[in-house]
Amino acid sequence: MPEWIKVAENMPVKEASIRKLKANGRDICLVVFEGKYYAVSAKCPHAGGELAGGWCKNGSVVCPLHRYEYNLETGRGAAGQGDYIDTFPVKVRADGVFVQVKKKWRLF
Ligand code: FES
Repeated sequence: MPEWIKVAENMPVKEASIRKLKANGRDICLVVFEGKYYAVSAKCPHAGGELAGGWCKNGSVVCPLHRYEYNLETGRGAAGQGDYIDTFPVKVRADGVFVQVKKKWRLF
């Protein structure tokens, strides 16, 4: 069962931001855009760009390498891209910001 992992303190955040962090062994990006939190994959599926180096516009995160765009709610790539990123549920409580991420499978 996926666990809720605390990834940040609950503080008022005015500026948009994208922060790479680890949750349950997975690299994710915690995004603040227009006052709302989102959690998405850390890597761009196009060629592995780090989305934490990108920026947000029109409800999407933009990869800094070739500017592919992914919707923050659905993870869907912009028209014509044919790809997507993972998105994870986010819960904001008085004691912190929590992300629900399944444990990464390990073979050893
Ligand atoms: S690696 Fe992200 S758009 Fe190419």
